Amino acid sequence: MTTKEFITANKDRFLSELFDWLRIPSVSADSKHKQDVREAAEFLKEKLTAAGVDNVEINETKGHPIVYAEKLIDPSLPTVLVYGHYDVQPPDPLNLWDTPPFEPVIRNEKIYARGACDDKGQVYMHVKAFEAMMKLNLLPCNIKFMVEGEEEVGSDNLGDFVKANKAKLKSDVILISDTALISLEHPSITTGLRGLSYMEVEVTGPNRDLHSGVYGGAVANPINVLCNMIDSLHDKDGKVTIPGFYDKVAELTAAERTDLNKAPFNLNDYKKELGIDEIKGEKGYTTLERTGVRPTLDVNGIWGGYTGEGAKTVLPSKASAKISMRLVPNQVSAEITELFTNHFKAIAPPYVKVKVMAHHGGEPAVTPTNSDAYRAASKAFEEVFGKSPIPTRDGGSIPIVALFKKELGLDTVLMGFGLDTDALHSPNEHYGVNNFLVGIETIVAFYKHYAKK
Ligand code: BES
Ligand code: MN
Ligand code: MN
Repeated sequence: MTTKEFITANKDRFLSELFDWLRIPSVSADSKHKQDVREAAEFLKEKLTAAGVDNVEINETKGHPIVYAEKLIDPSLPTVLVYGHYDVQPPDPLNLWDTPPFEPVIRNEKIYARGACDDKGQVYMHVKAFEAMMKLNLLPCNIKFMVEGEEEVGSDNLGDFVKANKAKLKSDVILISDTALISLEHPSITTGLRGLSYMEVEVTGPNRDLHSGVYGGAVANPINVLCNMIDSLHDKDGKVTIPGFYDKVAELTAAERTDLNKAPFNLNDYKKELGIDEIKGEKGYTTLERTGVRPTLDVNGIWGGYTGEGAKTVLPSKASAKISMRLVPNQVSAEITELFTNHFKAIAPPYVKVKVMAHHGGEPAVTPTNSDAYRAASKAFEEVFGKSPIPTRDGGSIPIVALFKKELGLDTVLMGFGLDTDALHSPNEHYGVNNFLVGIETIVAFYKHYAKK
């Protein structure tokens, strides 16, 4: 039986197991789901055991547990460490989902559920690829799995786990499916991810909410001030105005830029899919460059004053915003956090007080394309898709990729099978049934080529 035949014969069972997993609302950000997050870890442990690992552990952390498992067949063979996450983003706003987020369904050959693509669906491909290799007697090397439950909240405890378990995690390469392909027609391998610096700011004016008629016009309104401050963080060319922000940004060579822009991209389709008439970004760069290799600053949320029903005339005491910056090589998250903090305080006008707090951060990463593992991934795509994959730089962040390099000295291969249009973190997140099945097949092919090296 070929791998493809095995996948086809077991497709319904694979999907129904994945659906069971997707029904568990493992929202790491929300403490009322703490038990659900644990249940999702237990579920994974059970499925890895059934697939044939020798040893599986649920490792406690200060936060949510880390599932670790291994199948060691021969110490003289290479070892692949598979990383992924079983936690998911909050499903809000719930009213925008066409079907409930934790009741997975298939519509138009796509699985709709929170976590369908990010990242339970993609982790499950690895569990089923492993099962296929065990059943078909194809496992050509050692495998370790490390699947965490805190990726969506900044992987706070993974660093300590990695540092404390270097021997256990010893391997030759890290394999991650938590990124996107260009499309099933244009396979690609992600070779870069952006870093992150996530801030929260609070602007305070008067010591209490005021009547906007009695005081309006005579006392600074913190929401107005915050909006002006935020507006000043970009200039007319779409560049971030924080002094020093671009100092360490690695500029691409002309040849690298040409290569990056060879990836298929249709601006009209892009605008149409997003329902926008025009795009907007840093002057002098293409859309692929703006999301792949340029740093950015965005407001993720802003609040203050009255937002309830009807109209309340109020001049609020406080206004707040959450602001994230996506970073590129060789920017350093802690340094950007400091530049932002100093700048934001410096631009505060004398009629308000400003507080700046840092949330999580993470370093950008670039993965090599000249390694045995990258070549094996490339061959696997060629075999399954009939086309050589294009290397791409993704705009999202997986901060532990840089951490693995630093702590374990290991490179990562980012073999993701999602699509940018899968509505990650949004209502109606989905994952193509075909992406899931083809992913399993490509993962099995990866092991074959990698062990042959
Ligand atoms: N899987 C995503 C990252 C991603 C998505 C990379 C699409 C490439 C393409 C991951 O789960 C994620 O959402 N990461 C967060 C960062 C984290 C520190 C909260 C992100 O990018 O916002
Ligand atoms: Mn993810
Ligand atoms: Mn995510």
